[in-house]
Amino acid sequence: MVDLQSINFSGKKVLVRADLNVPIDEDGKITDDNRIRQSVPTIKLILEKGGLPIVMSHLGRPGGKPEAKFSLKPVAKKLEELLKTDIVLAPDCIGPKVTEIVKAQSAGQVVLLENLRFHKGEKENNEQFARELASLADVYVNDAFAAAHRSHASIVGVPKFTKENAPGLLMGKEIEYFRKALLKPERPLCVVLGGAKVSTKLNALLNLADKADKVVVGGAMANTFLAAQGFQMGRSLYEQGLFPKVIELIGQLARRGCQLYLPVDFIVAPSLTSVGLERAVPAQEIPADLMALDIGPATSLLYQEALKTAQTIVWNGPMGAFEKEPFSKGTTDMIEYLASSHGLTVVGGGDTDAAIHQMELGHKFDYISTGGGAFLALMEGVPLPAFRALGIELQ
Ligand code: 3PG
Repeated sequence: MVDLQSINFSGKKVLVRADLNVPIDEDGKITDDNRIRQSVPTIKLILEKGGLPIVMSHLGRPGGKPEAKFSLKPVAKKLEELLKTDIVLAPDCIGPKVTEIVKAQSAGQVVLLENLRFHKGEKENNEQFARELASLADVYVNDAFAAAHRSHASIVGVPKFTKENAPGLLMGKEIEYFRKALLKPERPLCVVLGGAKVSTKLNALLNLADKADKVVVGGAMANTFLAAQGFQMGRSLYEQGLFPKVIELIGQLARRGCQLYLPVDFIVAPSLTSVGLERAVPAQEIPADLMALDIGPATSLLYQEALKTAQTIVWNGPMGAFEKEPFSKGTTDMIEYLASSHGLTVVGGGDTDAAIHQMELGHKFDYISTGGGAFLALMEGVPLPAFRALGIELQ
């Protein structure tokens, strides 16, 4: 693996794969610019070293053709603001016009290519598409950790055709914290997992059974753990088809000496929209016509007790339906507790990340990953395609 700092960027065109896939509301306003902010240091470094960064990214999931609502226009504006320099937004990511635009720029300027997913070739990892992207530059830098689990052309295809390839600064930081948190953790290592579905986290749990000392479960996925053991969960969401797997997993965690913590009480209500009807009940007493929408106060205390001695805490997924005020306390309590923890705190992106930023407590965490699916894939122990393409070995 080549170190970014060792590359001579002077006078070179540098294709930077960033993940600028940020949430944008109906008015075209970016609601969380964290990923754009995190991609700035690498672009700045290339500029400072005399290179011409040609930034490329996907945004959303357009079906392989241009769609105005997935244009990178709002992202270009935000990037200009953060870099304090003008950016040339190319009308496409490949083609003669783009080649012309790139040729007309010199070192010190920044080009942003239009959404990679406006071409089918990106997701299909089409060789010709990758060659065309690669032909725009001398050097390829991959800083898109959040897309590192995708075998797309801009991730695994392009570096086959560029002369020099390296991971960006953000990619380096993500790897450094993953190492500290899950490969060489200070113990006890406690993993907090939440979110709606066990099915999306089952492989991560299986992999963590060998690594973690404690696993703390919240969110609707905890419902499946309890329902599988015979608890009556009323109208709560759970995945019945996974009961046998969950029972097997509970056994595996126990055999491998990993302690499992499940909710002892819940905030229940008739539905997500029924404000004012919520109340706390023990896990054994969920009424048949109500659903569990957050962990309860006793569970928050239990989890804080479980995490007290942790030297390393890795968190992924909210404790309840935190977007709705009456069901946010389990998640906000967890954020406040971890913000004051003395252990190393690493959070895996997505929903949890948004909740922390809303509370303006991001600076109290050691690291908040920009990856959602990519972070989960690392937790599962899956080799990431981007790492393979760059020759990065995790150890
Ligand atoms: C993400 O938001 O997790 C990344 O940008 C990857 O996006 P994708 O799931 O659409 O590939």
